[in-house]
Amino acid sequence: MPKKRPIILDCDPGQDDAVAILLALAAPEELDVLGITAVAGNVPLEKTQRNARILCELAGKPEVKVFAGCAEPLERPLFTAEYVHGQEGIDGADIFEPVMPLQGQHAVDFIVETLMAAKDDSITLVPTAPLTNIASAFLKEPRIAPKIHEIVLMGGAFREGGNVTPSAEFNIYVDPQAAKVVFGCGRPIVAMGLDVTHQVLGTPPRVKAIGDLGTKVARNVQGMLEFFNRHDVEKYGVEGGPLHDPCTIAYLLQPSLFQGKRVNVEVETESELTIGETVVDFWGVTEREPNVNWIHTADADGFYDLLTKRLSELG
Ligand code: RIB
Ligand code: CA
Repeated sequence: MPKKRPIILDCDPGQDDAVAILLALAAPEELDVLGITAVAGNVPLEKTQRNARILCELAGKPEVKVFAGCAEPLERPLFTAEYVHGQEGIDGADIFEPVMPLQGQHAVDFIVETLMAAKDDSITLVPTAPLTNIASAFLKEPRIAPKIHEIVLMGGAFREGGNVTPSAEFNIYVDPQAAKVVFGCGRPIVAMGLDVTHQVLGTPPRVKAIGDLGTKVARNVQGMLEFFNRHDVEKYGVEGGPLHDPCTIAYLLQPSLFQGKRVNVEVETESELTIGETVVDFWGVTEREPNVNWIHTADADGFYDLLTKRLSELG
């Protein structure tokens, strides 16, 4: 039996974060979810932390520890995305006040404490949101770095261009200073940017196949995706919305679904025109050291097969 991978999932639910949470909790043989940390992003913190708990209860896992983290980016004012995700952040799902408690410890302290207690090269961080919590942990306690096995994050854009500005993807745009800290941390990073997430579109047949599972989880995922997809279907004129965040968990479960290239990625933090841009040196034209496995290709059918099968195993 292969050893379970211990992970901390840092998120801003958000419908796609919600599906990432469900996929992670549907893989108890492979993943040991040490905790879920919420951060302000798609919607303010009080909703992202509530939504994370709603999803844990929906998955039948109220024992999962959920922590609230940073309510604001390191330097910039908070920019939220209700225009995509709705006022509640997970519109399309049944919204309720969760019974399971929010942990009293701040998410950043949980991350630091958990990593400092761990062996070197042992914990995988999975951020699917602005990187404020993760960067704050590095800034609070730089000694966490060697404890991290890998950071598998959703964020950034290169060939696809940005989804907030022509050059910046939301998670990086909201907190570019935090992203600069994380991309410069020196630990192995796998980045799922828009270049790959825009290949895994939640088309109506794929969303219907999930809904047809007939469970409460499946009905909520179908409702969330039908709500979430409308914005990008209209904006890009495509037949489905990109299912960004679950790409991180799918990579952990079935890395062969994805192809990447080790390249240098830096983050623009100064220019008002391009702030939050991930400058991806895909062709190695600079002397900058590669620091990221930049994922550029996905097997979309394989991704949805994995997701649908795993969701069928949740209540
Ligand atoms: O740009 C897509 C990312 O921004 C996803 O993580 C989505 O949830 C939003 O946070
Ligand atoms: Ca997210």
